[in-house]
Amino acid sequence: MKSAILGTGAFAPERVVTNADLERMVDTSDSWILERTGIRERRVVAPGQACSDLALEAAQRALKASGVHPAALDVILVATCTGDFPLPATACLVQHRLGAIRAAACDISAACCGFLYALSIGDAYIKSGMRHVLVIGSEVMSVITDWTDRNTCVLFGDGAGAVVLGGSQDESGILSTHLHANGGISDLIYVPGGGSRDPASEDVLSDKRCYIKMRGNETFKIAVKTMEEATHEALKANGMSAQDMDLFIPHQANVRILRAVSQRLGISEEKVMINLDRFGNTSAASIPLALDQAVQEGKLKQGHKVVMAAFGAGLTWASAVVQW
Ligand code: UT7
Repeated sequence: MKSAILGTGAFAPERVVTNADLERMVDTSDSWILERTGIRERRVVAPGQACSDLALEAAQRALKASGVHPAALDVILVATCTGDFPLPATACLVQHRLGAIRAAACDISAACCGFLYALSIGDAYIKSGMRHVLVIGSEVMSVITDWTDRNTCVLFGDGAGAVVLGGSQDESGILSTHLHANGGISDLIYVPGGGSRDPASEDVLSDKRCYIKMRGNETFKIAVKTMEEATHEALKANGMSAQDMDLFIPHQANVRILRAVSQRLGISEEKVMINLDRFGNTSAASIPLALDQAVQEGKLKQGHKVVMAAFGAGLTWASAVVQW
């Protein structure tokens, strides 16, 4: 039994932080951010708004689109690195608020690849006999962002996206998923403090070790290489050429990364989903946010083949092919 995406949903908080707003916070400019990243604005949560709040909204929309009742869910997976609490899992909070009384729930931590990792797990659950799995990517990156560090604060944003998986009745569905990791370069993007290695303390806070540190330039090069590799792997596994792709949904990190990957693959820009100008890098939420936008804009027709590819902290990289 193949699994299919029965419905998608997304949600982004209302508050918009523009590049002009950032010009007032750090030594940067709208033109630098736009040229070097492609980002114009990002969404940021209101005080008190947390990961499960965004996840819940996206999940409700995906459930509505799929026609699946919350009580029919077997499992809820939330891909996130910015959950409401260190414990319990954010997925449990969503499970309760949805009224998904039968569902098991846990979080998946694979940074920007989290959604594709969770999608792959959900796919395996459906193939092993479960009927409905809710896969969410939800992030509040603004709380692990150092808003005084111009190297990182211009990049990230908050948001959530979700899909409901169920058994496929026809040719449509998830054709394959491909997951990779290399913990040997885990210090490329990381949050050094606040975990069990360097527990939360006044020192962690004052030294800003609870915020993302990143070697941007090195990450950039590896991102291009790994996303290209993961996409080729996905195409090869399905006997496809890059031209057979109807839509490419890459992790929205930097428009220059997306252009470089698309050029290397030889696909035209019209086939590439780009929305980071409005949302920035929303980590695990970026692919489901873009997927839902593609659905809302009517970009996906029956039989279309969508390739998704991501890279992120870990380092992790991943891809998936879905027939619509
Ligand atoms: O989901 C995975 C997360 N990570 C990523 O996707 C990050 C991938 N990397 C990138 O997107 C890019 O490397 C960045 C956008 C982070 C940086 O762009 P870059 O072209 O690689 O710039 P750079 O780091 O080589 O820095 C070039 C210059 C530096 O100044 P000097 O040393 O040449 O005087 C930086 O200090 O740009 C400076 N700079 C800035 N200037 C204005 C760095 N950030 C800013 C800024 N505004 N916000």
